[in-house]
Amino acid sequence: MALLPILTAPDPRLKQKARPVGTVDADLVRLMDDMLETMYAAPGIGLAAPQVGVERRIIVVDIGKTEEDRAPICMANPEIVWVSDDDNTHEEGCLSVPDHYGQVVRPRVVRVRYLDRENEIREIEADGLLATVVQHEMDHLDGILFIDHLSALKRNMILRKLTKARKEAPVR
Ligand code: NI
Repeated sequence: MALLPILTAPDPRLKQKARPVGTVDADLVRLMDDMLETMYAAPGIGLAAPQVGVERRIIVVDIGKTEEDRAPICMANPEIVWVSDDDNTHEEGCLSVPDHYGQVVRPRVVRVRYLDRENEIREIEADGLLATVVQHEMDHLDGILFIDHLSALKRNMILRKLTKARKEAPVR
């Protein structure tokens, strides 16, 4: 397994639409494992392939609070097949938008169909935090960041700060 570098906004690669996966093969399982390791190390509760520079429709999620609670979910080609009428507002952050947070409104419950690590079609119903994280990660596959759900004023302020922070950071 390997730690992957995480892209940060306003990197243009975060704004691209990711391509669907054909078959979940050994290479993609390895990518999922690397993404999980990268997410746990960050630490974060979700990561999408475009955040590590891979334009494929793959996300990993784990909302477990401790190592003992770990319950990783790996999804290829996730698709929302049903959403609840009622919404939920959650304060979101993102490993690609470090140190910034914002309130985002999304459907409270979603039903998601995807291919798992064994290339089997699965469906889960996610609510609460899991629903928020899954929808946030799926947005990444379409080049959408949580800041795109905020007002233009707030989004531009965050992007300006990120650009400034990057210029001041030592070259890596
Ligand atoms: Ni994110």
